[in-house]
Amino acid sequence: MSDTTQTAETTQTATLNLPNKTLKMDVVVGTENEHAFDITQLRAETGYITLDSGYGNTGACKSDITYIDGEKGILRYRGYSIEDLAEHSSFIEVAWLLIYGELPNVEQAKHLRDLLTEHEALHEGLRHHFEGFPPYGHPMAMLSSMINACSCYHPDLLEMGDSDESFMGAAAKLMSKVRTIAAFSYKKSLGQRIEYPHPELSYCRNFLHMMFSIPHAQYHPEPEVVKALSQFLILHADHEQNCSTSTVRMVGSSGANLFASCAAGVCALWGPAHGGANMAVIEMLKRLRDGDDSAAIVMEKVKKKEFRLMGFGHRVYKNFDPRAKILKKTCDELLAKLGINDPLLDIAKELEQIALEDDYFIERKLYPNVDFYSGIILRAIGLPLNMFTVLFAIGRMPGWIANWRETVNDPKGRISRPRQVYTGPAHRPYVPLEKRG
Ligand code: CMC
Repeated sequence: MSDTTQTAETTQTATLNLPNKTLKMDVVVGTENEHAFDITQLRAETGYITLDSGYGNTGACKSDITYIDGEKGILRYRGYSIEDLAEHSSFIEVAWLLIYGELPNVEQAKHLRDLLTEHEALHEGLRHHFEGFPPYGHPMAMLSSMINACSCYHPDLLEMGDSDESFMGAAAKLMSKVRTIAAFSYKKSLGQRIEYPHPELSYCRNFLHMMFSIPHAQYHPEPEVVKALSQFLILHADHEQNCSTSTVRMVGSSGANLFASCAAGVCALWGPAHGGANMAVIEMLKRLRDGDDSAAIVMEKVKKKEFRLMGFGHRVYKNFDPRAKILKKTCDELLAKLGINDPLLDIAKELEQIALEDDYFIERKLYPNVDFYSGIILRAIGLPLNMFTVLFAIGRMPGWIANWRETVNDPKGRISRPRQVYTGPAHRPYVPLEKRG
């Protein structure tokens, strides 16, 4: 960028000086004063493309949904702070907010609850799909397959019109059915009878019922357990252009339906660098509990890059992750309420303490992320380890739905199709097989 470029703030344009070409670019300014060069004409005008591994500097879209200031540790859904939402709202309210842009009124919240109840059951044919999975199958594999399979039983999803009502029906179907699929896959893994959803229970209670009720013994969770689960889902409900949400948007940009796009989101979420980290944190803490190494020795190994401290670090947060702060408090409160003394919590706190005072972590701005304490909460609720990332997916569903809708409704939307800088061999003449020796 040329030194003579006037700043974006004053002129709202920027100039790129290349050897034989000068390109003027509009500067796009977001509501929170984020600045971006619009490089739409870059290749056409100059022949250059940008190279940005991991997209750390690339704005893939404009979005009205979620705002993060990673330096200040701010996270807002549609302008509302995550702290307020986690403290005062329900997952249903947050889902409506993310998808429609406003907090629902009483009637709208009831409408969404009714739709979730209406769609909570699985088609019996779909239920039989569970028989095809082995009992040890990973619930994330089942979840993504079953979400896709849903569209076979509800062909209306493939022909969803533009109306708000048909979209809302599809969104409610997805949010409701993932909860049922998740619980069924758990029962399947135990070899237990499936518990059908209960129409009179709230979203979180209903999930806990399907997970933990057994014939003739309905599960009645403590209110604090329901609150903690609801908060977990709220805190995971959206996080702007992370790996899984970008995947949903990318798949949706081809015109793929909501269910196919979100099934792809589940697959993207599975990895340990993303949603799979909540499982990986607990596995790491357990190894520490059961092994010979102290927390200090483990941290030395992390610094030697023998492995990563799971639940630490974030692409965007460079000060603290506000979700982790909330969950740490909830974790303390929930364990105290349930009278659980989990040694993993003590180990986690010890690791955090060491990290916060160590130059390696300070210099790289590595802090606990949302996954560091969330697993201890899920353990206290009684959820099995291999369901942790499934819970993340259930929570993220409204965010994926909102982002999918924003993508398909964008009048200037184009299929997502990045370019590359090719580094393979230059053209080579083909040699027929028999002449290759
Ligand atoms: N432990 C030790 N070192 C780390 C860690 C970690 N958890 N995370 C980053 N670093 C180091 C990394 O080695 C690199 O060091 P250097 O500059 O010497 O090469 C530096 O910090 C920057 O790392 P990066 O890989 O360029 O950072 P990134 O922004 O590409 O990756 C991350 C972000 C979240 C993938 C990464 O921090 C990580 O792998 N964390 C552990 C997995 C995890 O907790 N993931 C959940 C993320 S939050 C929930 C979600 O959104 O899914």
